[in-house]
Amino acid sequence: CNIKDIFIIEEHEHTIQHSDGSLDGLFLKLQIGLISGISLIVGTMIGSGIFISPKAVLEGTGAVGPCLCVWAACGILATLGALCYVELGTMITKSGGEYSYLTEGFGPVLGYLYSWTTIIVLKPSSFAIIALSCAEYASAPFYPGCTPDVVVTKCLAVASLLLISIVNCMSVKLASYVQNIFTVAKLFIILVIVVAGIVLLAQGNTKNLSNSFEGGTTSFGAIGLAFYNGLWAYDGWNQLNFITEELIDPYRNLPLAIIIGIPLVSVCYVLVNIAYFTVLTATELLQSPAVAVTFGDKVLHPVSWIVPLFVVFSTFGAANGNCFTGGRLTNVAGREGHMIKILSYISVKYYTPAPAIIFNGILAIVYIIPADINTLINYFSFAQWVFYGLTALVLIVFRFTRKEMKRPVKIPIAIAVLVVVVSCYLVLAPIIDKPEVEYLYCTLFILSGLPLYFLFVFHKFHWTRRIMSKHKHLTMQDPNQMRRRMQGL
Ligand code: ARG
Repeated sequence: CNIKDIFIIEEHEHTIQHSDGSLDGLFLKLQIGLISGISLIVGTMIGSGIFISPKAVLEGTGAVGPCLCVWAACGILATLGALCYVELGTMITKSGGEYSYLTEGFGPVLGYLYSWTTIIVLKPSSFAIIALSCAEYASAPFYPGCTPDVVVTKCLAVASLLLISIVNCMSVKLASYVQNIFTVAKLFIILVIVVAGIVLLAQGNTKNLSNSFEGGTTSFGAIGLAFYNGLWAYDGWNQLNFITEELIDPYRNLPLAIIIGIPLVSVCYVLVNIAYFTVLTATELLQSPAVAVTFGDKVLHPVSWIVPLFVVFSTFGAANGNCFTGGRLTNVAGREGHMIKILSYISVKYYTPAPAIIFNGILAIVYIIPADINTLINYFSFAQWVFYGLTALVLIVFRFTRKEMKRPVKIPIAIAVLVVVVSCYLVLAPIIDKPEVEYLYCTLFILSGLPLYFLFVFHKFHWTRRIMSKHKHLTMQDPNQMRRRMQGL
């Protein structure tokens, strides 16, 4: 192989063509630029959380002042977490996010447990939760004065999951257009709420914000739960690391997209919360099933319908981002032999990881059936923060064990230490405060990956691979490894 072959990869849509003309692999194209990167982050972070969670954060904190502090602290935490991912993502430019870093840092067993938990539960359940909130808002106008029929919302949620999965299977470009358009839409409604809030503040509506620390809770676990709900609204800050291989100029665009995207969302969230408190008292906010809609009804009167409409857009966009990155993780895990091989295949026609996206979509549909949104969010965050903490720990460990590795971006190690400490708190606080059997189930589920690992991965008992090996030319390879191999490195 020579350098000419590398050009053939670029020109011939990432299929490696050897000098003898044989095809060796198929890659996802590099087609995500800075704007798409930012909108993947912003568009996945802003979903339903900012329109629904304010109630749960206030419940946990007990007063307006601490509530706003928790929102700001969650923003800072998301930013610090993402800074760790900037260093890791520019050191290890593989897609798959935490999966690639945990595998590299702590070995394949932990990587496998992560992929097992995330691919089977975390990704599809968050996809399902977001689709359900989208369906709830979409069906609400047809049921004035009462709650929409559960069957109707679930069917609508399934329909949106199907639509999003089809779009993502058909074209990466189309999926990122969808992402960009819906991100603009959600930023628009946030702007409307913020501007309305600023006008109200200027008119002197500040009484809900005075004496705001009175009555705040001091319970360790309640604050932990408030954080969980706030952090759910911020969740998605790590999404760009799942698609590093498809990023154009990842060394520039990954850090930039993270540094622009996350602080932007944090500022929006704090301002939106202040806006809510300009019209709603703490009690009113706690009684409202959907804060943003109540806000709209009070303030935007003739056009108050725009709020639920844009929440539908916002959740739809977030679900799309979730599907986009979920597909990539599944695909990478398939490629590494941690999931069945077929999941690593790329559609020759559309250049998308179609089998992985379909698999993710099917699991999400399964989760729609029994879903109770709130419990899912709480358990989701517990498992999620175990992995965020471990990933930040990889960064610390690498500083000692992999001193020689190139670090295009190097962050102060104190940031990673802080993220590890905070994740320990977030994982332990609710368990110590209120031990519930569900946390045990969650842990058991994660650990149940171990026997599977030893059976199917360690002992190479991969019957599926043998069946699929005749389709080898469709299998996605690790592009970086391929390029290195081709350059004879
Ligand atoms: N932050 C989003 C929301 O407020 C939820 C993100 C779900 N998590 C994810 N990794 N996609 O709706």
